[in-house]
Amino acid sequence: MTQDAATLTTVRFTVNGLPVQVAAPGGRRLLDVLRSDLGLLVAKEGCGEGECGACSVLLDGALVNSCLVPVCQVEGRAVNTVEGLAGDGRLDPLQDAFLETGAVQCGFCTPGMLLAGRAFLNSGTPPTDRTIREAIAGNVCRCTGYTRIVEAIAKAAERAGDVHVPARSVAAAAVPGPSGVVPHDAPPAVTPRTLAEALGLLADRPCRPIAGGTDVMVGLADGAGDRRTLLDLQALDELRGIRLGDGPQGGPVLALGALTTYAEVRRSPIVAEHLPVLAEVAASVGAVQIQARGTLGGNVVNASPAGDTLPVLLATDAWLVLSSVRGERRIPAARFFTGYRATARAEDELLVRIEIPLPPGRRVRFRKVGTRRAQAIAKVVVAVSWTDGDGAWHDVRVALGSVAPVPLRAAETEAILEGSVPTPALADRAAAAVAAEIQPIDDVRSTAAYRRLVAGRALRRIILDAAGEG
Ligand code: FES
Ligand code: FES
Repeated sequence: MTQDAATLTTVRFTVNGLPVQVAAPGGRRLLDVLRSDLGLLVAKEGCGEGECGACSVLLDGALVNSCLVPVCQVEGRAVNTVEGLAGDGRLDPLQDAFLETGAVQCGFCTPGMLLAGRAFLNSGTPPTDRTIREAIAGNVCRCTGYTRIVEAIAKAAERAGDVHVPARSVAAAAVPGPSGVVPHDAPPAVTPRTLAEALGLLADRPCRPIAGGTDVMVGLADGAGDRRTLLDLQALDELRGIRLGDGPQGGPVLALGALTTYAEVRRSPIVAEHLPVLAEVAASVGAVQIQARGTLGGNVVNASPAGDTLPVLLATDAWLVLSSVRGERRIPAARFFTGYRATARAEDELLVRIEIPLPPGRRVRFRKVGTRRAQAIAKVVVAVSWTDGDGAWHDVRVALGSVAPVPLRAAETEAILEGSVPTPALADRAAAAVAAEIQPIDDVRSTAAYRRLVAGRALRRIILDAAGEG
């Protein structure tokens, strides 16, 4: 199918330091632009949905999955691919280290691994086995060559010492030219520059908001029917930032712009001081690539029952701030999720901010059970908040994800914990209560019986840890 030129967006950016310009549907994947339009074939397509890292590239220096980046969001930015690593007749020191340690077997994962390693080295993070493994956790090697890959990155780090080695800006292997009209059925996109402009567009016609794209782009790759014009939110600086403010009822709140990424939550000193559990949750979402792009607002609006942050928002009585041309309204997170992937957001509204009250003395704990440490979609998420008083728990909230069509609070379990002193016996009672109270289903990720079991265990562990019985 040939796209009508009116649905194409002209996007200008650099690839390995060279300026390029493409005309493509704004929703076209950066991976397709690199491979098909620009002839840069080293980034690979594996899963096509953000799980394998074979398509990894650097976007303004951050490691991202190019299969999840719509090209409209690359305007004015710098893309680096493996074609640009070697230059002046020399390999990058990381490429040398991969060769010396035998870190390449079939080579399919190698481009993504090299860029994950290069992003890690550029970050200046102290190289340890743990930090290197975390840096490549979003990259799957089917030949199970991880040990040598970790060795290679450590070796390159040793050689670099304290010297920061930027990815080189050199000519790409193929000379990119204007791509012209590209046959592809990706949806078009519009990129408003202000919130007012975005709200005006939403009021005029149905569009599909897209933030980090980690969910929307997967749906598009599936061929899911929704081909509405994408409303690209990336330029809306009003929706960014983490700060302390006053809530509607006067107390302090942690205010997080809807476009705040998981990586920003992890790095935020304000989050670390006032709600460290949120940084813990952000660290559990996907791997480096997903954390660089995925946003809190996206997690909320997608309303997946497995959304990692949602139980914490329920357990902390968070407020969601929605904006439209009609004005702004606040809604408690507990009233936002109305059904499976359904929310109280009207078609013409955007989620602009999340406000989390910060009452004195409140404690919050979270546990996620998945298949593996990185990239796991939750089988069960449990978040608990309470305040201590004379050794007993008060204002108890127990919230869970992946156990029903919506993330939910467990009122009967909360009633058992309210006013009680945490003990092993209480932990057992609460675990049995929550297993009976939830309504999980069997699906491709787990069974209902397993979810009941691990929800109870996760809650029990939180209570025992809090009681000092861990
Ligand atoms: Fe697997 Fe993009 S192709 S993450
Ligand atoms: Fe074959 Fe990693 S070397 S997939």
